[in-house]
Amino acid sequence: ADPNVHRSSTFAPVNIAVIKYWGKRDTALNLPTNSSLSVTLSQDDLRTHTTASCSPKFTKDELVLNDEDQDISGARTQACLRELRGLRKEVEAKDGSVPKLSGMALKIVSENNFPTAAGLASSAAGFAALVRAIADLYTLPSSPAELSRIARQGSGSACRSLFGGYVAWKMGTEKDGSDSAAYEVAPASHWPDMRALILVASAEKKDVSSTVGMQATVKTSELFNHRAEHIVPARMTAMEECIKDRDFATFADLTMKDSNNFHATCLDTSPPVFYMNDTSRAAVRVCEAINTRAGKAICAYTFDAGPNAVVYYIAENEGQVAGILKSILGGKMGWNSLQGRAVQAAEMPK
Ligand code: PMV
Repeated sequence: ADPNVHRSSTFAPVNIAVIKYWGKRDTALNLPTNSSLSVTLSQDDLRTHTTASCSPKFTKDELVLNDEDQDISGARTQACLRELRGLRKEVEAKDGSVPKLSGMALKIVSENNFPTAAGLASSAAGFAALVRAIADLYTLPSSPAELSRIARQGSGSACRSLFGGYVAWKMGTEKDGSDSAAYEVAPASHWPDMRALILVASAEKKDVSSTVGMQATVKTSELFNHRAEHIVPARMTAMEECIKDRDFATFADLTMKDSNNFHATCLDTSPPVFYMNDTSRAAVRVCEAINTRAGKAICAYTFDAGPNAVVYYIAENEGQVAGILKSILGGKMGWNSLQGRAVQAAEMPK
């Protein structure tokens, strides 16, 4: 290995929100219009692996994702790089003997083991991994909360992928975003039998990016104001409580309602934005039927900015939930690639 090349690798997991982030009050800093809450999924299944390296020989910053060169001139990526370099400069100023890595170009190589930009939270894992890999390379003393504040500027939902288990992103009130970061609501071990089934209705790139979609909603939907001001604040409190109580029926009820409310604000946008399709709605109907048959909510669907469903359930109900979803949707409903995979809620790697 070239002794002039400094290198560090890390993994970051995907998180899937049960109270959705949708809307920015500051687009430059990625400050949200409401708080949100998610579950971090096992990185054995869905994760980004990222290696960050720097060397005096590198000529310009570069990012390669799944073997393709990416444009990193965008303000979001630049904000993350600028903040991390600034923190490295502080380390270098304190200790004159450490190498001056902040002045070297960076090479970042990332790989996702799931479809990119198909509404499977790829940007969340991507920016979380990028920030952690560079923070490790720079041996920054930063806490996960500080790194989450930086990752937030790359992609809002990325701030939640710096923590394992059950994670909230507090919207904060400061203009500079200094109090808009993620925190752990409960570790994965608190409710270890939580499972998520990922149903891939389409692995194609979504047609309206979350940034474009959410700002159209903020501008044109009146329903959105009601969601941000009243619905979400009440749900955040209720969701934290039911996680603490391991009350799945309430967790499921809030999760499904919040997904539907978020997609209702998309429909209320002018022109309307459709992320769910016929296949998504078939999954909703099957989940509702499973819950009716069980006499209580034993599964909870949720949809991000795309048609793919994530269905949460408790391990003991695996047969009733995953079994039925697979048998009904697997063949008939045009799921050309049903990848029903049960993944676990997970802690962050040490
Ligand atoms: O982080 P972004 O900008 O890709 O936005 C993600 C928005 C949703 O996935 C739809 C909701 C969420 O809270 O993750």
